[in-house]
Amino acid sequence: MRSVLIANPKGGAGKTTLATNLTGHFANAGQKVTLCDLDRQQSSLRWMAFRDSAMAPVNGYFAGNQMLISLPKEPDWVVLDAPAGLQGYKLADYLRLADKVIIPVVPSVFDMAATEDFLGSIRQDMRGRRNAIGIVAMRVDPRTRAAAMLEEFLKHFNLPILSYIRHTQNYVNAAARGLTVFDPPSSRHRRDVEQWEPLLQWLKD
Ligand SMILES: Nc1ncnc2c1ncn2[C@@H]1O[C@H](COP(=O)(O)OP(=O)(O)O)[C@@H](O)[C@H]1O
Ligand SMILES: [Mg+2]
Repeated sequence: MRSVLIANPKGGAGKTTLATNLTGHFANAGQKVTLCDLDRQQSSLRWMAFRDSAMAPVNGYFAGNQMLISLPKEPDWVVLDAPAGLQGYKLADYLRLADKVIIPVVPSVFDMAATEDFLGSIRQDMRGRRNAIGIVAMRVDPRTRAAAMLEEFLKHFNLPILSYIRHTQNYVNAAARGLTVFDPPSSRHRRDVEQWEPLLQWLKD
C-alpha cells in the first residue's frame, strides 16, 4: 500500500478535486484504491455516492475527526483528502501516515498568503524527506503572469511544481456526476489527462 495526502489549509484550493481525480486515475488503471475523507464536510464521499457502479470501482471511508491510527493495508493506494485548516499535531500525524504529500495552490495573492505558513511548517515536519512533497498549480495556465508569480513565491520554499492544472468546467461537471477526467469517454478530457502526467510519474517513482 502507498498513501498520498492532499493538503492545504485554504478552502477551495482544489484538494477534493485532486483527491477524487487521483482516485479515478488509479481506479481506471486497474488499481485498488481507497479514498479516505478526513474532512467533516465529506465532499469526497459525496462525490463517491454520485458515482455510477458501471465505472471503475473505488472504496471510501470517512475518518472524521478521529485520530487515524492506521490505514487499510489491502488497497494499492490510499488517497487522503485533508480538511481546510489542517495544522499542528493533527497535520504532523497525517504526514506520518503519508508516503507522499501533494499541495494544490491557486496562484492568487490570497491563496499564496494563506499557504505561506503551512509550507514553512510542512517543510519542517518533513525534514529528511522533503522530496516527498510536491506542489500542483491549480487552475492556471503555465504561460501566464499568475504562473510566474506562483513560481517566484515557491522559490522561497524550494518545492517543485509537479503539474499545472488548467481551469476548466470539465472538473466541475465530472465532480457533479461522481466522475473524473480519467473516466470514459476519454476523448473529452485528453488535454486534462495530459496535464496530470508529470504528477502521476512523480507519485509512482
Ligand atoms: N481546475 C479547476 N477548474 C475549474 N474548477 C475547479 C478546478 N479545481 C477545482 N475547481 C472547483 O473549485 C471548487 C473548490 O475545489 P475543491 O477541490 O472542492 O477545493 P478544496 O477541497 O481544497 O476545498 C470546486 O467547486 C471545484 O469544482
Ligand atoms: Mg475539500
